[in-house]
Amino acid sequence: MGTHLFKTERVTSFPGNEIVKEILILINCKVYREGVGRRADVIAQAARQVAEESGVTIAIAPTFTDIHRISRHFDIPVYAQHIDAVMPGAFTGHVTAEVVKFAGAVGTLLNHSERRMTLADIEVAVRAAKEHQLNTVVCTNNDATTAAAAVFSPTYLAVEPPELIGGKISVSEADPGIIERSLAAAKRVNPSVEVLAGAGIHSGTCVRTALDLGTRGVLLASSVVKADDPVRVLQDLVSKL
Ligand code: G3P
Repeated sequence: MGTHLFKTERVTSFPGNEIVKEILILINCKVYREGVGRRADVIAQAARQVAEESGVTIAIAPTFTDIHRISRHFDIPVYAQHIDAVMPGAFTGHVTAEVVKFAGAVGTLLNHSERRMTLADIEVAVRAAKEHQLNTVVCTNNDATTAAAAVFSPTYLAVEPPELIGGKISVSEADPGIIERSLAAAKRVNPSVEVLAGAGIHSGTCVRTALDLGTRGVLLASSVVKADDPVRVLQDLVSKL
């Protein structure tokens, strides 16, 4: 992966890790048909273009088998969608921090609502990710789970009410209170942790509202992944920053 050109402050001094913490738009491709293989390349290219135009960090979390190709060919931060809470060794069909790092990821989602983990496993996975200089985005569903996960000092917590995921009404519009409460809960436990908002995020207004509530960005999927024109949607998403 080449050098990123983004302007804002860096999260950490991890070598080779150019992720910035100022504002992050993280696209989760899930395993949507519209988000895997060559179509993941289209989304990565769109992210790269709009990141360059806007100066906003736009990262992508493709499915595991797309991580290596995308990290090689597109100069954008690549996240894994999950890692398992296991260390290298006799585990079959598991994905470790080490292997996603080798593949080119600079971070990983953890505890997504479609891939929940136990609290004990989140702790192990966050620790493993840190040992491999990977950023961590731990997903939560309310202020209580946000506070619990904040103890592990992930790079970001991403609060996503499950009932709004994949819908047309965003968390910013439908439930700004959950963002405010989660943010307060996270900061009470760990003032250094940053919070992202997710679920239904589809427009510049949704992103602006999330930021005005105190988040550092958004985690989103369907509005970009399923779009006929991902560039146009991404341009709208950054339009009020
Ligand atoms: O990981 C992001 C996701 O769960 C939110 O999905 O489709 O509501 O943006 P979506």
